[in-house]
Amino acid sequence: MKCLRAALHVAWLPQLRPATTQILARLKYTQHQGVKGIRSRKSFYEAQMQAGQQEDSEERSMAMSSGDMRFLDDRAYDEVAGGAMRISRDVATAQHVFILQPYVKWSAKRTTPNDVRPDDQLIEATALIHSLPNWQVARALKVPLESLERKTLFGSGKLTELKQLIAQLREERHISCVFVSKGTLSFAQKQFLESEFQLPVLDRYSVVIQILRLHATTAEARLQVAMAELPYIWAQAKDASATQTRRQGYSLSDLQKEILRTRERKLRAELDAVRRQRQLLRQKRKQQNYPIAAVVGYTNAGKTSLIKALTVEDSLQPRNQLFATLDVTAHAGSLPCNLQLIYMDTVGFMSDLPTGLFECFVATLEDAMLADIIIHVQDLSHPCHAAQRAHVESTLRSLAFSVAGGDSSASQLPPIINVYNKCDLVTPQAQTAAGGHLISARAQSGLEPLLMDIEEQILNVTGRRKLQVRVPSGGPEMAWLYKNAAVVNTKADEQNSEKILMRVVISQRTLDQFKRQFC
Ligand code: GTP
Repeated sequence: MKCLRAALHVAWLPQLRPATTQILARLKYTQHQGVKGIRSRKSFYEAQMQAGQQEDSEERSMAMSSGDMRFLDDRAYDEVAGGAMRISRDVATAQHVFILQPYVKWSAKRTTPNDVRPDDQLIEATALIHSLPNWQVARALKVPLESLERKTLFGSGKLTELKQLIAQLREERHISCVFVSKGTLSFAQKQFLESEFQLPVLDRYSVVIQILRLHATTAEARLQVAMAELPYIWAQAKDASATQTRRQGYSLSDLQKEILRTRERKLRAELDAVRRQRQLLRQKRKQQNYPIAAVVGYTNAGKTSLIKALTVEDSLQPRNQLFATLDVTAHAGSLPCNLQLIYMDTVGFMSDLPTGLFECFVATLEDAMLADIIIHVQDLSHPCHAAQRAHVESTLRSLAFSVAGGDSSASQLPPIINVYNKCDLVTPQAQTAAGGHLISARAQSGLEPLLMDIEEQILNVTGRRKLQVRVPSGGPEMAWLYKNAAVVNTKADEQNSEKILMRVVISQRTLDQFKRQFC
């Protein structure tokens, strides 16, 4: 009981009401500002054009504030959420976590590259815990099971073993909760395990939500995370009312249900407004004719690092944390031919996330689906590199399908460039086996051939071409081309000193405009 109180994170167990009160006393957001969410490179917009500057500031303001967000800070809601997820918003509280990675015995024998081994699942579970400041792993353990569907999750023999281990661990060090690394646990499973372990029990959904809360600094990201919490709370409440006995006695009161419904209504309205704004910005960008490269990939693969390397954007800060990026941000860069393009940094993917959680971020990925090209960044040094790649590819396909409104004939992905990052960490043999673009965003190696490929694909997809035009030196044609096309280089015309040869990258539409005006 002493440990339970110290843990502070269980709110639904009736015997823990005093602890709940303590949680409420300390509820507060801990915001980590100034990491991501900073939009496009300032100098680019300042130097290049007024319109772009305006777009940037609009996008920034959309990200920072969308309507009245005060309803998100609602203590009554926080109490309901804390009860369902076993977490409070107080990410500053230190946690000593005992990780249990359950897996089905026979599945561990699968050996295709796309299968994630229990060892790797455990590494990912540990990385999730390490993504939270002040959370430490007290012990991490794989638990082989016959099935993951058992009502009590663990059989009685395994349970006795785990209880003994917990008792032993408690003598050696402090443990404040148990993280069962499984998508979601039912309310009944959690309640059963908590009464057996005498510790709060978290599942993957709640841990990921806590990470997302921590990293959600923009208005859109905060709304999306808030929305992602609701299906979980409803599911737990439904499960609780189905399994409760008079003795256990917990269910949502009518008032609490109304709090959830009202919150959901407000969130939907806010998110709709944000999406409409996003669509407008997308249209504007299209009118301005910037090519767009969406940078996607598994979480922590190095997407932000690559964009930073390609744009030399100092404001970007890659972090060795899962789900560091929670919203799509735009960053300006230029290609070897001087054509300017926009790189979109996107939210990272992760397998074994319940669909309800990921769906809330789908809207932010719509931008990626509508980009001219997709750059798929992969962490070649990761032991589950192949499985991560397969997961991202299949998610992209289903996203394209949903963006096309479920019409499989219309669901087409933009061309994809595969980039194998973190080559500085792998052997030359592993690099040879991978093929494709081998780079290290950190060491800035392999970037030139990658940029050449991006250029080629962008020119192909957007119908731009490189050509040389002869125009009067210092004339209005020259100024027009500098303004409306990408100028690769210029040189004097040896046959006519009054003319200049300009090598430009230009779309057919812009070329036609040029001809109408000057030819
Ligand atoms: P999310 O936002 O969580 O999806 O991550 P991300 O894909 O944007 O990854 P990010 O760029 O934040 O990098 C994650 C970690 O990998 C950071 O600690 C980077 O410094 C590191 N990293 C990125 N590229 C390389 C690389 O080429 N080599 C090595 N050794 N580390 C790298």
